[in-house]
Amino acid sequence: MEDFTNLLARNARQIGEMLDAKLSNHIESGEIARPPRLLAAMRHGVLNGGKRLRPFLVIETARLFDANIEAAQCVGAALEAIHCYSLIHDDLPAMDNDDLRRGKPTVHKAFDEATAILAGDALLTIAFDFLSDDKLELDAKIRLQLINGLARSAGLGGMVGGQVLDLEAETKKPDESGIITLEAMKTGALIRYACEAGAILSNATREDRERLSEFGAAIGLAFQLADDVLDVTADTEALGKTAGKDIAANKATLVALHGVEWAKHQLEGLMEQADSLLEPFGNKADILRATARFVIERKN
Ligand code: IPE
Ligand code: IPE
Ligand code: MG
Ligand code: MG
Ligand code: MG
Repeated sequence: MEDFTNLLARNARQIGEMLDAKLSNHIESGEIARPPRLLAAMRHGVLNGGKRLRPFLVIETARLFDANIEAAQCVGAALEAIHCYSLIHDDLPAMDNDDLRRGKPTVHKAFDEATAILAGDALLTIAFDFLSDDKLELDAKIRLQLINGLARSAGLGGMVGGQVLDLEAETKKPDESGIITLEAMKTGALIRYACEAGAILSNATREDRERLSEFGAAIGLAFQLADDVLDVTADTEALGKTAGKDIAANKATLVALHGVEWAKHQLEGLMEQADSLLEPFGNKADILRATARFVIERKN
């Protein structure tokens, strides 16, 4: 297998190019104008690096079923737009109040708060534009399942709901299962969707779809657990975002509750779970296995 780091970097470049083209000043039919400052803020929040892990997962799960990779890239780009919106809003003073993201000033620092809020709003809606655009060739039923899945993973019962629980937990500490729920929602939901989306767009069997959704839930939880470990163990330069923020903000994390060593042990358990879910796919799932390993061993 090509070196995993190269694969991920190539994907990041391709998704970056696709997002760059979609976030151009070209006015689409049905639009009136694209205000330059709003567009610039959206581009700052999206085209500023980022691992593009979520699109990578959509594409690599779709590859298990030999699906149309161009369609998978487009679904990945929609999901990445929502992820970037979630980061822009997460960094706002009303939320985590962060000045640095992907090694650069956050959107509200580079622009202003109102523009950052609106750039997030426009990235959320443009994700559904990408998915519903008829330039994306998809069977209507599959398209609706993709749209519905994205809405449910991003909203009330998914990422946004998890962000609310995360903020509430700064003052009223949840128990372990409460923290797992908030982490599974704020971060796990979009990662779970990424893996399920690859199966949906390939019209995979219900069993395979559920299996990949469980795989996504396992690595999604692992992803946030690793993020919480890195907040304690890594430095700001490696992270591209301010380290040590979770303790300073009194965040409820499993690391705060049980410590780094416990978390690392948990990560190995989640890796085993992820591995066993991939078993029926044999060698075809080698890249997904490497992705799970990357999620638990990543350095930023
Ligand atoms: C950061 O996500 C926010 C979390 C959900 C923990 P990523 O670590 O995927 O951020 P980028 O997209 O690579 O910057
Ligand atoms: C972020 O969790 C989750 C979302 C953005 C939805 P964090 O607040 O831990 O993410 P970072 O550490 O700021 O990237
Ligand atoms: Mg946060
Ligand atoms: Mg944050
Ligand atoms: Mg964090």
